[in-house]
Amino acid sequence: MESNFIEISGNTKNVGITMDECNIIYHAGQDVPLTLLVWTMICLSMHQDGQQKAREEVSQVFEGQPPDFEGLNSLKIVPMILNEVLRLCPPWYYFKRELLTRR
Ligand code: HEM
Repeated sequence: MESNFIEISGNTKNVGITMDECNIIYHAGQDVPLTLLVWTMICLSMHQDGQQKAREEVSQVFEGQPPDFEGLNSLKIVPMILNEVLRLCPPWYYFKRELLTRR
């Protein structure tokens, strides 16, 4: 919001985003990852072996410290689990957009 405000104030090119668009980004960015996380918790509770492997990897990589980008990028098992949950229980499974072609 702040960077967008800086972007739109004082320029006449109208390149900023609107409040409606901010709203869409906010909700699209909350609902979909939230649904993914809830399904991940459900799947991990059904597959305790996977839960154990994920826990071991996270403990090994972060050693009780807050997560950082370097550590997140080195994870192997957790992204596999997230991708599998996205495949099995997609939080968003359709496209509303339609391609219009000119003839
Ligand atoms: C695993 C995570 C996510 C998945 C599976 C996902 C999936 C999708 C899909 C399938 C669409 C297209 C919908 C359509 O055109 O009908 C979409 C659009 C969109 N998503 Fe996500 N999304 C995810 C995360 C996020 C996050 C974190 C944000 C924002 C921080 C976000 C913001 C948006 C926005 C703004 C659109 C609309 C784009 C446009 O108007 O063209 N999404 N998402």
